[in-house]
Amino acid sequence: MESKKIVIGNLKMNFLAQEITAYLKKLEKMDCGKRVILCPSTIYLPYFVGKNFELGIQNISAFESGAYTGEVSAQQAKSIRVHYCLVGHSERRIHFQETDEMIREKIRQALKEKLKVVLCVGETETEKDELKTYKVLKKQIRTALRSFSGKELSDVIIAYEPVWAIGTGKVPSNTEISYTIGFIKAIVKELFDVEVAVLYGGSITEKNIAQLNKIENVDGFLVGSTSLNADKFKKIIEVVVTQ
Ligand code: 13P
Repeated sequence: MESKKIVIGNLKMNFLAQEITAYLKKLEKMDCGKRVILCPSTIYLPYFVGKNFELGIQNISAFESGAYTGEVSAQQAKSIRVHYCLVGHSERRIHFQETDEMIREKIRQALKEKLKVVLCVGETETEKDELKTYKVLKKQIRTALRSFSGKELSDVIIAYEPVWAIGTGKVPSNTEISYTIGFIKAIVKELFDVEVAVLYGGSITEKNIAQLNKIENVDGFLVGSTSLNADKFKKIIEVVVTQ
């Protein structure tokens, strides 16, 4: 059966303008199609438009338009052919104090513009040690997705990114990831009666991707630092998408 998994590269706040051409040139020849999504810094999005992959924005405003200095609206993102947006990444929760309620308003704006939302959820190391993972995930999901219709939720993907696995080189076992993804799918079904695609993210590399790709219920991957290296990112794409 053909795999429909997706791969998202979250470039975070990396690269300078003069580095982008070389990066894009390396990815140019890949047969990426609609199953590879790149999320560069917002200021560089125009450089990435019209290439051989889909485009995502790393964050989106909770407001529709107007006097919100420094914000980028879902409508603006859509107008340059951005089709995805990350929402609720742990770095935004930690450094910018984003709450589940704020995240829900961002999702509302994104869904209004028919952007595909990638809602990031995950527990901290302390929460994991205190066996609170499922409780934390349930709260994040329930609060962020409350009040949307089943039809709207069909544009939502969830990315499970344990905070302790981001940028640390620590990765849960396949069994742990599979269990947690199963839990997320079950909880979304129970709360909202919809099926949701769930990605894994956190310290994915070109070396561990073959192993992670064996997880049966994972619908794709959200890659951080390894996506900054076009050659390594291409290897990940080959394993998950083009193989
Ligand atoms: P790393 O792949 O660098 O651990 O980052 C994961 C991430 O935060 C993707 O959104």
